[in-house]
Amino acid sequence: MPEGRFEDLRSEAETAIASAASTDELEGLRVRFLGRKAALTQALRSIGELPPEERGSVGKEANEVKRELESLLAERTERLEAEELDTRLAEDRIDVTLPGEPPPPVGHLHLVSQTRREMEDIFIGLGFDVVEGPEVEFDYYNFTSLNIPAGHPARTLMDTFYLADQVLLRTHTSPMQTRSMERQEPPIYIVIPGRVYRRDSDATHTPMFHQLEGLAVDEEITLADLQGVLLEFARAMFGAEREIRLRSGYFPFTEPSVEVDVSCFRCDGKGYLHDGSRCPLCKGSAWIEILGSGMVDPNVYGFVADSGYDPEKVQGFAFGMGIDRIALLKHGVPDLRMLFENDLRLLEQFGA
Ligand code: PHE
Repeated sequence: MPEGRFEDLRSEAETAIASAASTDELEGLRVRFLGRKAALTQALRSIGELPPEERGSVGKEANEVKRELESLLAERTERLEAEELDTRLAEDRIDVTLPGEPPPPVGHLHLVSQTRREMEDIFIGLGFDVVEGPEVEFDYYNFTSLNIPAGHPARTLMDTFYLADQVLLRTHTSPMQTRSMERQEPPIYIVIPGRVYRRDSDATHTPMFHQLEGLAVDEEITLADLQGVLLEFARAMFGAEREIRLRSGYFPFTEPSVEVDVSCFRCDGKGYLHDGSRCPLCKGSAWIEILGSGMVDPNVYGFVADSGYDPEKVQGFAFGMGIDRIALLKHGVPDLRMLFENDLRLLEQFGA
């Protein structure tokens, strides 16, 4: 057998190793040239079958080629591993100067909260303080101290959830009238925003809704003061051209009681639109009811006499209005329930 019988194999393997592009490819070449089934391995294994005089030189040559290929593979593997590591490091590098994920949109206050704040601001401007009270209330404050004794028919109009015999979800913010007067001597000028609860559910009533109560007690307060405060409020809320109208009403804790309407801000108090059609907001009546109010009934002062409320010396007025209703009217939301469905398509229209 001639010298150099593995030359072709050697040069083929050298070229392949030199041009291998990855460590995976090198592993393939190792199997191909040095694996169990490789020509070289087979040759070394069958040396015993050669004539004795050839065994030495063939064995030597095959082992040389084997060692050479092994060291070429090792070298090339090391080189490629280093290169692969470099690429991985370069690719995985975090560029800390890149801008981060865009921040999620900040959102805004719910229309009811916006409206509540707007109303609070108007009354703060008129000299009122803002106070809050409990939503879980005693029968005494919700009814009795407001001149609504047990068995009074007004109680059934304000059906609610009782947590215990004398403990209920308040049906209005009025219990804060007597609660506040207990705590503070006259004069008192406060508004009380908050949630209230009634057994009611339709397009204009929800089991939970929001009210803003007002109470002013001082010397020489008259119905004209109530009228002036509410006119200011109506104009600040619905436009400088608004008028208000007082109609007689009934509440057990005010005497006299009045229902207050604001002139319609859709048709400018005319009842019809430019094209002569009936105004859809006031339904042609030119007025929109916004609240109930009246002069504080002297009987109510009887419950807070210890705090200095003597009906012979002080008088006052109180009013209560639905915050949600004001929001609805002002922004043309057609159904009160929409305010509490949390549908972003509605809420996003009132971004602050
Ligand atoms: N609390 C009454 C209601 O919920 C409203 C009101 C408040 C009336 C204050 C008069 C005075 O209907």
